[in-house]
Amino acid sequence: MNIDLSGQHAVVTGGASGLGLAVVEGYLRAGAKVSVIDLAPSANADLTALGVEYYSADVSDTARMRAVIDQCEAAAPIDILYNNAAIFDMAPLLESSEESFDRLFNINVRGMFFTLQAVAQKMVDRNASGRIINLASQAGRRGEALVSHYCASKAAVISYTQSAALALAPHGITVNAISPGVVDTPMWDSVDALFAKYENRPLGEKKTLVGTEVPLGRMGKPDDVAPLAVFLASDQARYITGQTYNVDGGNVLS
Ligand SMILES: NC(=O)c1ccc[n+]([C@@H]2O[C@H](COP(=O)([O-])OP(=O)(O)OC[C@H]3O[C@@H](n4cnc5c(N)ncnc54)[C@H](O)[C@@H]3O)[C@@H](O)[C@H]2O)c1
Repeated sequence: MNIDLSGQHAVVTGGASGLGLAVVEGYLRAGAKVSVIDLAPSANADLTALGVEYYSADVSDTARMRAVIDQCEAAAPIDILYNNAAIFDMAPLLESSEESFDRLFNINVRGMFFTLQAVAQKMVDRNASGRIINLASQAGRRGEALVSHYCASKAAVISYTQSAALALAPHGITVNAISPGVVDTPMWDSVDALFAKYENRPLGEKKTLVGTEVPLGRMGKPDDVAPLAVFLASDQARYITGQTYNVDGGNVLS
């Protein structure tokens, strides 16, 4: 399918690495203008080479995010939001702390929701249609004994995707989510280190193991996920809303 996003402005949160960076590249290849919002004070070498607009912000800082979304919208009306920034943490249930809960929910849920709200408000004010794509996870599909807060934060992403899809449908704005399985990104280095700690494994063992357990036989790569993000942002996806798509090599079934 030849997807053309020329003339479209896509905002990608957490676009400096991993899945977000692959989607930035996918949107650029499809002809979109791309703005990236991430934590570092300035764009890294990858983003600089790609020539995207860069804004430094923590998605959980709602006031700062509203100001950044104002700036993005002033540069060019926003057509697409790839709402991707998130963090991971884990601990045995009886040791799962309030501090970890607050960090995960502030970024993965509060940051995700109020970014969606700020961008949707711009689209509604302009009476324009739009595309919003949230990053859920296989973790949001079921619980895990060691990963309760993160799983709950991603279940919330799936729920907000459904509510926002219904609320924004009258405005012609679609809202969908992507639910990756295990994808080889910088996030998985910290995931592996935490499993090493709590399951008493050597570093790297869990990452190898999860790859072999995927029905399609390997961990995902960011480029396995990016094409769906491009499709969902396009006009071809205009009649799809409120859905969460697994891109996981069959993992959530296994
Ligand atoms: N890698 C996986 O196996 C996997 C699986 C399922 C879902 N996901 C989800 O996919 C998305 C991308 O994950 P990834 O693996 O590419 O992670 P990653 O850690 O490689 O990239 C995340 C990006 O988000 C940025 N970020 C983190 N906190 C932020 C904040 N408060 N404000 C702004 N930016 C922030 C980071 O700086 C980083 O550039 C996340 O929502 C993650 O939960 C990942």
